[in-house]
Amino acid sequence: MSEHETHSETLGEPTRRDFLYLTTGMAAAVGAVAVAWPFIDQMRPDASTLALASIEVDVSALEPGMSLTVKWRGKPVFIRNRTAQEVEEANAVQLAELKDPIARNDNIDAAAEATDLARSAGEGKENWIVMIGSCTHLGCVPLGQSGDFGGWFCPCHGSHYDTAGRIRRGPAPTNLPVPTFTFTSDTVIQIG
Ligand code: FES
Repeated sequence: MSEHETHSETLGEPTRRDFLYLTTGMAAAVGAVAVAWPFIDQMRPDASTLALASIEVDVSALEPGMSLTVKWRGKPVFIRNRTAQEVEEANAVQLAELKDPIARNDNIDAAAEATDLARSAGEGKENWIVMIGSCTHLGCVPLGQSGDFGGWFCPCHGSHYDTAGRIRRGPAPTNLPVPTFTFTSDTVIQIG
């Protein structure tokens, strides 16, 4: 033992070993708080958590050809009022041409085919399309009115989606998913 250490202990100062015990004890206390908090939070969802479960979007300003991106449950959601030509182009596509033949629409049967109608807001509202704006490859946000099929294009690795948000070319495996949504009036869409 060195002369210095002997001197420190004599004066009652913490030795290096005591100091290590102290810091370890503090880390454990912080860890316990971090673990306990999420449980308490889960039992008591506050107003903002509940509000995020669904959102209402006023789409009255969206003329044909215009789109809007909103945030829902932390993800971008694309809402597009498609032009008659865009709907027509998507309708003209044969199912056999599709890379992913499943509609991926949470509002209809999980096995429904990816026709344009099945991808849209449905009968009488075929012009409206609502989709999660997250590329099904690795999650980048695709760009609207872009790509080889006039729909969306993901520049990250080159995925092309058509005007119904169906994957047509590139590495993305599936169509952009359609979340649960409903028109609560002619101009308001509730998502979630
Ligand atoms: S994340 Fe979109 S192509 Fe890779």
